Amino acid sequence: MATPPDTQKPVVEPSPDPAGQFEETLRSLHMRVRQQEILGELGVLALKGVPFEELLGETARLTAAGLGAEFCKVMEYLPGEKCFLVRTGVGWGNDIIGKARLGADLESPAGFALRTGKAVISNHLENEERFRTPELLVRYGIRRAINVILQGDGSPFGVLEADARTEGDFTQDDISFLQGAANMLGMAIERQRNERRLQAAIERQELLLKEIHHRVKNSLQIVASMLNLHANQGGNEEVRRELREASNRVLAIARAHESLYKNHEIGSLDIGAYLRDVCRDLGASAPGCIVRGDAPEGIRVATDRGISIALIAIELVTNAAKYAYPGDAKGTIRVILEKQEPDLLSLKVIDEGVGLPQDFELEKTPGLGMRIVMALAQSLNAKLFAKVRDQGSEFELRIPLRSIAPAS
Ligand SMILES: Nc1ncnc2c1ncn2[C@@H]1O[C@H](COP(=O)(O)OP(=O)(O)OP(=O)(O)O)[C@@H](O)[C@H]1O
Ligand SMILES: [Mg+2]
Repeated sequence: MATPPDTQKPVVEPSPDPAGQFEETLRSLHMRVRQQEILGELGVLALKGVPFEELLGETARLTAAGLGAEFCKVMEYLPGEKCFLVRTGVGWGNDIIGKARLGADLESPAGFALRTGKAVISNHLENEERFRTPELLVRYGIRRAINVILQGDGSPFGVLEADARTEGDFTQDDISFLQGAANMLGMAIERQRNERRLQAAIERQELLLKEIHHRVKNSLQIVASMLNLHANQGGNEEVRRELREASNRVLAIARAHESLYKNHEIGSLDIGAYLRDVCRDLGASAPGCIVRGDAPEGIRVATDRGISIALIAIELVTNAAKYAYPGDAKGTIRVILEKQEPDLLSLKVIDEGVGLPQDFELEKTPGLGMRIVMALAQSLNAKLFAKVRDQGSEFELRIPLRSIAPAS
């Protein structure tokens, strides 16, 4: 018997699967949260200043992950060639990364994004009528792509593109995420370019400074040679000696400028190497005397402090050549520089000559030389000691390292 019509169940349209819809919403929510996390990670990387290539690679990797896409690439626009270079990416073969060039015309999705600044989504590349699908995407079986512009410093750097072989839709939210990632990269690009410019300016300035030191050194050398020439022209022996001493002082300052342009550092010099140069010059200008410089390398001091130390050494060596070995009996003069822990630099000038006069007192010598030495020592916060040895005399300058350290 047939069931009466009023007791029959109504025929209703099947309702959409609420459980499936819920899962889809949850999945999409998880994806947005992950995308936010990724943007945070990229921001930290960009701020940390990781090397640019690394940042490009990480952006491609994280962006692909955030979009659930198997492929992503950073394409740099090469204005000279009017095309894109695949700078880095994920999913692409080694023959593509760093090598492949793609058209940047308005008919290509990436070219459109670059030229208009508008993001482009193609969820059905096989049916795409607005754009020409690049051959590379066809070759890799890409079904959908999303492109956003990558701003650089003033002009666009290129395009950030994610591609997928799977079915699905890139959405407006995905554009926001991808554009966010591209903006982080854009900030890093801008910063990197600024840093490069700054570095170039610093290098140029250093070059100019070195050039100046070179010229100053040459000019001082000319002055020193002229003084020497004068000294060798005959006349009063006293005047000749004074001229030679003046020439040595000028030459020592020239040496300091030489050491500045020969080395990377401008504000400091290697006092050991510098002193050895100065001793060599002194030996050449003190006939009959051997001036031996024994100074280790690697102690850097502020340039002006180094010059003061050299001027002190010059006065002491000149005195030794003048008084320790009277007449023709010339001998050796040793200049010894030593670092003494914990905070002391010792400069000794030792001769094996006649020794100091009985009434010699550092503070009370009539000559100008010792007064210069004392004044320079004071400016270094250093102490000068003089002592008579079994044979000859010894002057020692004890300098606190902290008062000659280069500015950090
Ligand atoms: N190494 C030395 N051996 C012997 N005597 C020295 C030595 N060093 C200095 N003296 C003595 O100390 C004195 C003072 O030296 P100081 O350098 O002040 O003057 P100067 O050399 O005579 O003149 P100036 O340096 O102005 O040309 C010298 O006149 C000399 O008698
Ligand atoms: Mg003197």
